[in-house]
Amino acid sequence: MASLYIHSLLKLAFLCSFWPIITPLSLNYPAVFNFGDSNSDTGGLVAGKAFPLTRFNGQTYFHEFSGRFCDGRLIIDFLMEAMELPYMNPYLESVGSPSFQTGCNFATGGATVQPANAASTNPFSFNLQLSQFFRFKNRALSLLSKDKELEKYLPAEDYFRKALYMFDIGQNDLDGALYSSASEKQVLDLVSKLMSDLTYGMKRLYDAGARNFWVHNTGPLGCLPRIIATFGKNRSNLDEQGCIVSHNRAATVFNQKLRDICLQFLAQSPEANITYVDIYSIKLNLISNYSLHGFQPPLAACCGYGGPPLNFDTRIPCGVSKDLNGTIAAANPCNNTAEYINWDGNHYTEAANRFVVDQILTGNYSDSPHLVTSPFVN
Ligand SMILES: *[C@@H]1O[C@H](CO)[C@@H](O)[C@H](O)[C@H]1NC(C)=O
Ligand SMILES: *[C@@H]1O[C@H](CO)[C@@H](O)[C@H](O)[C@H]1NC(C)=O
Ligand SMILES: *[C@@H]1O[C@H](CO)[C@@H](O)[C@H](O)[C@H]1NC(C)=O
Ligand SMILES: *[C@@H]1O[C@H](CO)[C@@H](O)[C@H](O)[C@H]1NC(C)=O
Ligand SMILES: *[C@@H]1O[C@H](CO)[C@@H](O)[C@H](O)[C@H]1NC(C)=O
Ligand SMILES: *[C@@H]1O[C@H](CO)[C@@H](O)[C@H](O)[C@H]1NC(C)=O
Repeated sequence: MASLYIHSLLKLAFLCSFWPIITPLSLNYPAVFNFGDSNSDTGGLVAGKAFPLTRFNGQTYFHEFSGRFCDGRLIIDFLMEAMELPYMNPYLESVGSPSFQTGCNFATGGATVQPANAASTNPFSFNLQLSQFFRFKNRALSLLSKDKELEKYLPAEDYFRKALYMFDIGQNDLDGALYSSASEKQVLDLVSKLMSDLTYGMKRLYDAGARNFWVHNTGPLGCLPRIIATFGKNRSNLDEQGCIVSHNRAATVFNQKLRDICLQFLAQSPEANITYVDIYSIKLNLISNYSLHGFQPPLAACCGYGGPPLNFDTRIPCGVSKDLNGTIAAANPCNNTAEYINWDGNHYTEAANRFVVDQILTGNYSDSPHLVTSPFVN
């Protein structure tokens, strides 16, 4: 371990000697390939499973159904804007001749790192997303070798090397384990397994020529209204923010190990760049300091039912109306989406996502050889 670490430090010193500008992250890539869950799904689950996402999703920005689990743009959409690239099309979209010239999104809502099985609600787990990527790449290169005109729709060959490979996955694995009351030991074992799957996937991509990696850690799972509604009845499970302790602890363990494997990967992959982004701290800061950042009390869903503090009822998710003993209970969106952190009990609002990306772009929440003051060098 020590020698790996030194190796990475030397490499950083080398990279940094070419990096005299103290600026935020440089984001100059011709294409992006993304692997993940609903946090970065730009329409994959809706395309792939005809998932019946409620019509309120998309209302703030796209003004139409966008296939995203959000009222507007996701973190990845704002990052694409920062890279001056178009929003990503999902690999699974088959209607409307989507262009994949600047990349392809393999993320789907509900996806896990662990391989899906017959009981999984989402079949497109990380291993399948990787297989989809390799199929995409082989198919694109083969089509391009026959018809150069297709460069309007497919990434040029050298884009695969120059592209940014992004990852935002793992939340559903933790969520599922804790839902079935995993012990701390079981969570630790699970996390090690997830780390070896993620490392293996990144290595396969690197061996196929990928060089630029960008990894989001997982957010404070215990602060989602759905989790609080489910596990917060016993108040001794809550921390000072009102979030569920065990879930945030599991997320923190996951993130520590994720950062470790990123460092190891960097050390073992001489030509790789990797940026590890601390989404957890950004979101926790937003939740803890919500009024400072212009938001309403942070633990309520904008689109839900039940009123404060959570405005979330597991029986009536966003967009659903139900007859409860003769009265119709409807989960409709709030009027002031921009003041809410949480959208539907499970996902963040566009306003919160914009806050997160503004923070990412300061560079203050990343470990990256892009940065002179990288915490890796400490
Ligand atoms: C609440 O949780 C604490 C700690 O996990 C436990 O000791 C206690 O028995 C629980 N109380 C109830 C009513 O379940
Ligand atoms: C790392 O990223 C920087 C900035 O995008 C780029 O100039 C450099 O070539 C990358 N290094 C490798 C090894 O790809
Ligand atoms: C909330 O803001 C204060 C003051 O800026 C800061 O010290 C603290 O770390 C923030 N809380 C979190 C959880 O980031
Ligand atoms: C509906 O009525 C039943 C029987 O009175 C009661 O147990 C249940 O809690 C009520 N449900 C709601 C949502 O009020
Ligand atoms: C939205 O605003 C309308 C008109 O001011 C009000 O009647 C309605 O109750 C509000 N809805 C919510 C969810 O706050
Ligand atoms: C980044 O963090 C440093 C050190 O805490 C702080 O001085 C600076 O203002 C931050 N930059 C931004 C843009 O938030």
